[in-house]
Amino acid sequence: MALQVHNLTVRYGGFTALDKLSLNLEQHTTLGLVGESGSGKSTLARVIAGLIAPDEGKILLGSQELRKKRSLYQHKQIQMIFQNPDASLNPKHSIRQILSEALLFHNIVSRSQVEKRCQELLALVQLEARSLDKYPHEFSGGQRQRIAIARSLSVEPSLLIADEPTSALDVSVQRSVLELFNTLKAELHLSLLFISHDLGVIHAISDTVAVMRQGKLVEKSSKDQFFIRPEHEYSRELLSAVPKMPKTSTTRRLL
Ligand SMILES: Nc1ncnc2c1ncn2[C@@H]1O[C@H](COP(=O)(O)OP(=O)(O)O)[C@@H](O)[C@H]1O
Ligand SMILES: [Mg+2]
Repeated sequence: MALQVHNLTVRYGGFTALDKLSLNLEQHTTLGLVGESGSGKSTLARVIAGLIAPDEGKILLGSQELRKKRSLYQHKQIQMIFQNPDASLNPKHSIRQILSEALLFHNIVSRSQVEKRCQELLALVQLEARSLDKYPHEFSGGQRQRIAIARSLSVEPSLLIADEPTSALDVSVQRSVLELFNTLKAELHLSLLFISHDLGVIHAISDTVAVMRQGKLVEKSSKDQFFIRPEHEYSRELLSAVPKMPKTSTTRRLL
């Protein structure tokens, strides 16, 4: 297993956002996490990434338990990509600075290798090497998301958590970024926790689908099972709520 969470509970004051949630993610697969707004998806992402501490429960990365105080190595193993790439891109820094910062901080490559590694990272996300001299505002939203992805990959994580990474993008751009995630997963042997409220996106990206509601896990099924024969009534409700689509052939209509 790439990741296991056991009985995770997170409370915000008196409100329980994650309620004894348990979930596994297999190595080198993509788990698509879906659920209505407020169901606790981002809270789960943040607690796995170590941005907030759980009130209860356990997180294992591989066979290692991640405790409240994580090592630098454990921090770099899990990288997060957000809906808004600007959150992780300093507007005053060139792309070269943005990509080399983490490389140097985590000693990923020696100083003399930084330039070469930055170019390789841009190639990975299918951007031109001359982009290194530019600044974030010179790129489109989709390109900025690619830069944020390159930055998260710079530290060679084993697990990527993407929280609605394509939700702010146009549909055509969205598709190309989803393809990039699929390519990267295969090439870099990543495990991916991919959060989206959009079932079309979940269909395009997932090997396995998990459904959350009110801080709990409702269902976890293979993609095919989820889209063809979901186990839980709530999953069927989600699927039937997909707008402007005929009742027949659930799988085809989401492509
Ligand atoms: N920092 C916070 N303080 C208080 N309540 C929060 C905080 N973050 C999230 N919540 C609440 O927790 C619930 C789950 O939020 P979130 O994890 O963001 O859900 P999702 O990503 O599925 O939309 C929501 O009801 C939200 O209002
Ligand atoms: Mg969210």
